[in-house]
Amino acid sequence: MKSQAAIVFGGASGLGEATARKLADAGHSVTVADLNQEKGELVAEEIGGAFVTADVTEEDSTRAAVAAASEAEHGLRVCVNCAGVGAAGRIVGKDGAAPLDGYRWAININLIGTINVLRLAAESMVGNEPVEDMQRGVCINTASIAAYDGQIGQTAYAATKGGVVSLTLPAARDLSRSGVRVMTIAPGLFDTPLLALLPEEARKALGDTVPFPARLGLPEEFGALALQIVENPMLNGEVIRLDGALRMAPK
Ligand SMILES: NC(=O)c1ccc[n+]([C@@H]2O[C@H](COP(=O)([O-])OP(=O)(O)OC[C@H]3O[C@@H](n4cnc5c(N)ncnc54)[C@H](O)[C@@H]3O)[C@@H](O)[C@H]2O)c1
Repeated sequence: MKSQAAIVFGGASGLGEATARKLADAGHSVTVADLNQEKGELVAEEIGGAFVTADVTEEDSTRAAVAAASEAEHGLRVCVNCAGVGAAGRIVGKDGAAPLDGYRWAININLIGTINVLRLAAESMVGNEPVEDMQRGVCINTASIAAYDGQIGQTAYAATKGGVVSLTLPAARDLSRSGVRVMTIAPGLFDTPLLALLPEEARKALGDTVPFPARLGLPEEFGALALQIVENPMLNGEVIRLDGALRMAPK
């Protein structure tokens, strides 16, 4: 289908915002779902889409966001989850063992949040009328290359993203009988508000660590891959690194 109903969690900023824009440019009708209402409404207005406030860690607001996007004529067909947070800290720091609550917080948003979005979006898609190849929808998760080469201080973050990587294949197998695909993108270093907090010099230095092209990734490049995943039915059950051949050093 040329125009499908899509929802982008974390669509108010960074990689999610760029994905929402790419999907809208390609003719899809996009619902932006995010905790950040102010920015989310702005993005939705600019792309001619809708906005819903949602917290991916909650059952109710995530279910309501999926339900709103599913009201489209042919049902919800595309779900991209870019909602996530960074987390840093050594296992044993100056004050002793890292607080367990820090791990719980990151795992709750990045991993449980991904599972929550996936299960509720898939539930909606399973009820869609199948189109070509018996397709009913596609869910795209966001991991990180920290899932593979996490750095010093990244145990919490890497654990959340490793979980997202690991669930991709079983989720795709699980939903294959329903014609719902599951893919994950593992980005390297991207120029989003997350990194914009760093001074220009530090951002340049980070970009220089990428073999080729030696720069930070552009959010539009992430959005372009998400769109390709939507359009290519053979992409399923796989994690794609999008990182300019970067393999992160210990620190
Ligand atoms: N930027 C990078 O270099 C990079 C690299 C690897 C992985 N990632 C991952 O990509 C994803 C997006 O990162 P980004 O750089 O675009 O960050 P960002 O901070 O620009 O955007 C994240 C968005 O998620 C939303 N969000 C956070 N918690 C939420 C929740 N509980 N419910 C709903 N929305 C919530 C925020 O409000 C924000 O709009 C994250 O999962 C991040 O870990 C980013």
